Amino acid sequence: TETPVITLDGPGGAGKGTVSMLLAGRLGWHFLDSGALYRLTALAASNHGIELSQDSAVAVIAEHLDVRFDQDVNGTQIMLEDERVTENIREEQVGINASIVAAHHRVRDALLKRQRAFAELPGLVADGRDMGTVVFTKAPLKIFMTATADERAQRRVRQLQAKGDVVEFERVLTDIVERDERDQNRAIAPLRPADDAIVLDTTNMTIVEVVDYIENEARTRN
Ligand code: C5P
Repeated sequence: TETPVITLDGPGGAGKGTVSMLLAGRLGWHFLDSGALYRLTALAASNHGIELSQDSAVAVIAEHLDVRFDQDVNGTQIMLEDERVTENIREEQVGINASIVAAHHRVRDALLKRQRAFAELPGLVADGRDMGTVVFTKAPLKIFMTATADERAQRRVRQLQAKGDVVEFERVLTDIVERDERDQNRAIAPLRPADDAIVLDTTNMTIVEVVDYIENEARTRN
């Protein structure tokens, strides 16, 4: 039997990560943060002194990515080659670097199997850019979550400020717009809603409203 999967795609800063985690918690399902795999690939490539534009060298890094998702009292800890990188991979620069390595065909191929392995019973909530269009094309529920770039930048700023980071709105907005461009215009697996996705504009919705909506859709389908 097929493991049920909910795909949650959309541009950066829409709040997909938070929504996916809350949703997975409510349903008691597994959770895949596919962006973390691209971030980890970018970080590992930098650590090994590899140019991000070198697609075959970066693909080798992606194929051999030595990563563990460990559970402890603080939640999930992400270990890259036995080093804790839970916070490091969230840096804006790592996100930008992730979108550079994510444009390489061989890198995406290398991460495909690893992502599909997360689909285990009772179910999976998969967060990313191409979960519904490439990785889990048969998922019974696909959501494409958007919000205006301005609103996403505001959400990101609040998130970073909550962590104690000093950030400038204009800078965050520029980064978001740049990353959108790269993700939407790349030749392979560009960011777009799957034909059978529900497009959800969350500009005027709270996180809880979004989670309630998706949970309700999921439950009425089972
Ligand atoms: O979602 P997050 O900001 O962690 O993703 C970082 C980058 O990884 C994205 O900007 C995108 O370029 C890439 N990515 C991707 N496909 C995914 C998830 C992330 O190309 N499924």
